[in-house]
Amino acid sequence: MNPALYKAALERISGLFGEDATGHDVHHTLRVYRMAMRLAEAERADRELVGLAAMLHDADDPKLFGTGNGLPNARAFMDEQGIAPVQAETVCTIIGEVSFSKNGSKRPSTIEGMVVQDADRLDAIGAIGIARTFAFGGNRGQAIHDPGRDTGTSIAHFHEKLLKLKDLMNTEEARRIAEERHRYMEAFLAEFQDEWDGKR
Ligand code: ADP
Ligand code: NI
Repeated sequence: MNPALYKAALERISGLFGEDATGHDVHHTLRVYRMAMRLAEAERADRELVGLAAMLHDADDPKLFGTGNGLPNARAFMDEQGIAPVQAETVCTIIGEVSFSKNGSKRPSTIEGMVVQDADRLDAIGAIGIARTFAFGGNRGQAIHDPGRDTGTSIAHFHEKLLKLKDLMNTEEARRIAEERHRYMEAFLAEFQDEWDGKR
């Protein structure tokens, strides 16, 4: 992505996210951007579309902004930057197909969408995924773990969602990275359980 556009996008998302502590901070977006560009390289996807979609993928997240389905924050930014309307429309389609909650396990319709979805999902697993999960759970006031519950705690979230992500990756490179991060989460969960049970 050209440096001026990158800088403008960084300023915009920094302004939008502010001090959000739910795991959707600007650093999440920048990690997704870097990973998406790496995957785009491997997949020969359109780097301009991938870059814009990655930078703007959470700019209209309903959990943070009550902006509905029209992606007004993403559209306003692209409009101000003089992105051609057809291209902006494609970016919005990509963003709409990325979300796990909105989209379930449906595959995005383009390689660009697959790459950005993989990058977003990779940021939910591994060491960073573990950190984000407890930050998100704490922010919501939920317990880290409760042996009597298989939902509504941070540990439950691993089983409900995070351990499933490696099998949902769209691209080869993402699958390889996901497998490593998955093993790391499994080791963490095993250690967590052992300490909980007084075995260590
Ligand atoms: P995205 O929209 O980027 O797919 P979410 O908005 O669902 O991700 O979640 C942001 C972060 O918070 C992710 O790391 C996710 O795994 C974590 N998270 C989401 N829901 C929960 C939950 N119920 N408990 C703990 N962590 C959660
Ligand atoms: Ni995200």
